Amino acid sequence: MTTETAPPPGSRHLALRIVTMPRDTNHYGTIFGGVILSYIDQAGFVEARRHAPCRWVTAAIDRVDFKAPVHLGDIVNFYAQTTRIGRTSVTVRIEVEAERNTDGTHIPVTAATLVMVAIDQAGLPIPISQAGNATGNTPTA
Ligand SMILES: CC(C)(COP(=O)(O)OP(=O)(O)OC[C@H]1O[C@@H](n2cnc3c(N)ncnc32)[C@H](O)[C@@H]1OP(=O)(O)O)[C@@H](O)C(=O)NCCC(=O)NCCS
Repeated sequence: MTTETAPPPGSRHLALRIVTMPRDTNHYGTIFGGVILSYIDQAGFVEARRHAPCRWVTAAIDRVDFKAPVHLGDIVNFYAQTTRIGRTSVTVRIEVEAERNTDGTHIPVTAATLVMVAIDQAGLPIPISQAGNATGNTPTA
């Protein structure tokens, strides 16, 4: 069953908000792109899980272009939008904005589109409509 809190395609909302830390920086003092990618993946999971509280895996992430750097101490906001609900997968758009540590301005950093797939305990895709519990098993009632 699809949960009542599942967002309709089209609504954009905050999925994740983090503060960048010294461990996230490269030797130039800006944040590694891979760190942002990891959070994009987590934001995609957060969004997918709103559709059903089961196991979700990332099947695909499209091209990611970084338009502006993220600095140490910036707050980074990850906005999510479900753009497609399939049989066993959802397509999620994640938009990333840095909130500058210095003056609080919001800077668009990057965006990505992810396909997240609902799976059972064996790792096989399951229909979202049957992905009724957090263990990934199909519901018994
Ligand atoms: C994702 C995975 C479960 C898909 O398994 P599969 O046998 O290829 O599944 P299917 O072909 O039945 O596709 C299932 C759904 O995923 C979608 N899908 C699968 N691969 C896709 C891809 N590369 N791009 C876009 N959509 C994809 C299909 O369109 C389908 O969607 P729908 O049911 O909503 O129409 C499997 O490939 C897998 O386990 N991959 C590893 C996932 C993972 O570990 N990610 C983290 C990597 S560290």
